[in-house]
Amino acid sequence: MTEKTFLYQSNGNKIDKGSISVQSPSNIALVKYWGKKPVQIPANSSISFTLKNCYTQTSVSFEKSKEFQINLSVEGEKNLDFLPKIEQFFKRIKDYSPYIFNYNLQIDTLNTFPHSSGIASSASGFSALAYAVVQLEKQISNISEKEAMTKASFLSRLGSGSACRSLFGPLAIWGKHDKLNKTSDLYAIEHHEIHDVFRDYQDTILLIDKGQKKVSSTVGHNLMTNHPFAKQRFIQAQENIISMIDILKSGNLDEFISKTEHEALTLHGMMMTSKPYFVLMKEGTLSSINKIWEFREETKLPLCFTLDAGANLHVLYPKRFTQEVLDFIRQELIVYCENQQYICDEVGKGAKVLNEYYD
Ligand code: PMV
Repeated sequence: MTEKTFLYQSNGNKIDKGSISVQSPSNIALVKYWGKKPVQIPANSSISFTLKNCYTQTSVSFEKSKEFQINLSVEGEKNLDFLPKIEQFFKRIKDYSPYIFNYNLQIDTLNTFPHSSGIASSASGFSALAYAVVQLEKQISNISEKEAMTKASFLSRLGSGSACRSLFGPLAIWGKHDKLNKTSDLYAIEHHEIHDVFRDYQDTILLIDKGQKKVSSTVGHNLMTNHPFAKQRFIQAQENIISMIDILKSGNLDEFISKTEHEALTLHGMMMTSKPYFVLMKEGTLSSINKIWEFREETKLPLCFTLDAGANLHVLYPKRFTQEVLDFIRQELIVYCENQQYICDEVGKGAKVLNEYYD
């Protein structure tokens, strides 16, 4: 498929107004995407767990209008902060979803996770918005359900790269890989080959730094452009995807732990060695990592961590060890969390429509 595949074709149906409510989750990459080309084309493939409890709920109410206008409210309040990114998103999708410009839009959105938690809402936010836009397209074109999912992923990517993986669960792969059929740089695909142990894998997110991201994703990705180790990193990520796919199929937890932690530390290693350089971990991040390693050594429980481009730590483990791991987190790690906050999440299934009405 090429960009052209995603151009819109009307079926002649006309809709004057309506409203669409959807929800879409966040996701956590196991093999990370870090480095991109215009427009939102990843330098390497990535694979992620889709989450379940951390999601964005978005309703788009639309009414025919000569002028395209967006009103945005976040958690019930009018919001201007996110408007520039949302406007950029609509500009980027214009060729693919021109129908949306025939309406006045009221967008109401809320996240289930705390607003300033250091958890990026862009993945869940843009995937929810793109998913809602595509629901309207389903009414006015002959696009099939499967095509609509792929298009939603394609549009999400134009908002925020990693958002394109959020539509699908339990696993999503994004980025062209020579050894993986059907993979694309333009959208993510669902990946089903998963061992039972990972189907409900737990992700407890330690909110170590709830502040705004120190380095925006855009700045971070751009730092890879002249990074002396970038070329090797992109090759390594392509190899890691293949081993991660095997691990996720076989259920080999020792290998999962080692590959997942190595990927997380590599991501941070790239940031620590770029120009300018950044350390995004906090003291609490490092202390928690050391405690996790000690606890794993002592108990032999198969827990591990991963990181996004920030200080918060995602603690990953099989569901059957929830009690032991949560006891450990409460006793040993909670001191490193801002306001002692952490979020219990697990692997989930992706985006869904909550309700819709068209007139
Ligand atoms: O989607 P972006 O541009 O916010 O980039 C996300 C990058 C990481 O979260 C660090 C890794 C990933 O693959 O999700």
